[in-house]
Amino acid sequence: MVWLVRFSYGSGYFFLMSFFFLIFFWQGCLIGAIEKLKMLCSDGEKKLSFCRSIKDGDLVIVYEKRDVMKAVKVCETSVLQNRFGVFKHSDWIGKPFGSKVLSNKGGFVYLLAPTPELWTLVLSHRTQILYIADISFLITYLEIVPGSLVLESGTGSGSLTTSLARAVAPTGHVYTFDFHQQRAASAREDFQSTGVGSLVTVGARDIQGEGFPDEYSGLADSVFLDLPQPWLAILSAGKMLKQDGTLCSFSPCIEQVQRTCEALKSNFRDIRTFEVLLRTFEVHEGKMDSCQGDEGVSVGSPPYKRRQRSSEGSIVQDSSSSPTIKARPCADARGHTGYLTFSRLKCLS
Ligand SMILES: C[S@@+](CC[C@H](N)C(=O)[O-])C[C@H]1O[C@@H](n2cnc3c(N)ncnc32)[C@H](O)[C@@H]1O
Repeated sequence: MVWLVRFSYGSGYFFLMSFFFLIFFWQGCLIGAIEKLKMLCSDGEKKLSFCRSIKDGDLVIVYEKRDVMKAVKVCETSVLQNRFGVFKHSDWIGKPFGSKVLSNKGGFVYLLAPTPELWTLVLSHRTQILYIADISFLITYLEIVPGSLVLESGTGSGSLTTSLARAVAPTGHVYTFDFHQQRAASAREDFQSTGVGSLVTVGARDIQGEGFPDEYSGLADSVFLDLPQPWLAILSAGKMLKQDGTLCSFSPCIEQVQRTCEALKSNFRDIRTFEVLLRTFEVHEGKMDSCQGDEGVSVGSPPYKRRQRSSEGSIVQDSSSSPTIKARPCADARGHTGYLTFSRLKCLS
């Protein structure tokens, strides 16, 4: 009897302890799962929108002309000084993005929103960066859409990451890794300033040596690599991708492309390499010479332009002196940047 009572007392104690243990255990799992969900999902407020007025602390792109722009953090007590005079930041607060603002001398600049396209042109180059021609092509070809989960390495100056973040917004996320601690930290700060902070998580990690973290295994829609030896990260990238997931690797040299393609063959299909060359045109108003010595092409004339009929009856420009809209390829156009190699994870079945 005593033994029975002892036994039931002991087992009751044991069950009670097990009960608490289970509660703590499940609570732990639940908190872990919620934290992970918070990381992987989004809260619906992540839209990158500049349809609001400029606030103290915002980043704006101060636009003087096409090739003179800079990023400025708005601070109520600061001024911007340039060749047009002194601009008080306090005058900017409350104005919509895109506003034209005046200096003390009547000069003006425009205050533009830090869109990924403009940010790529003004960011501080801590590394080589990707530009809009490669960026737009790879986002399309990787099929990155709102809600996608994208893994990237290296982060570099964050030029690509900013566009990736906008492409996955509002419900997706970009996890980007760079083994350079300071670069990762600076990129994190930049993402906060440009308004994409909630869409991007930056990690400091050697992706060629350690691969991507196991916690993203089988979760990624796309993986992007801009690494010196991308072939070392291909196996890990394959493990991270969902079935049918897409991968892209950017390399400046064709020898790197060859080694990457070799590494891709075992687990990937549809391997394709592209070089994206962009031809930019300058369009401006100018006087048309009777014989055009340069590559300029007339593309039209302003509404006020005088026109006359040729002997055949078609309308031609009066080439004497009035202005014409001219377009010609930019002299400073960028040539080769690198090769983009795309592939898709082989299906298991
Ligand atoms: C050319 S930059 C990337 C530029 C980036 N795509 C952009 O648009 O700004 C290459 C980056 O890869 C990083 N990197 C090099 N080896 C790495 C490795 N093993 N693991 C992670 N990052 C690495 C470098 O620190 C560098 O920041």
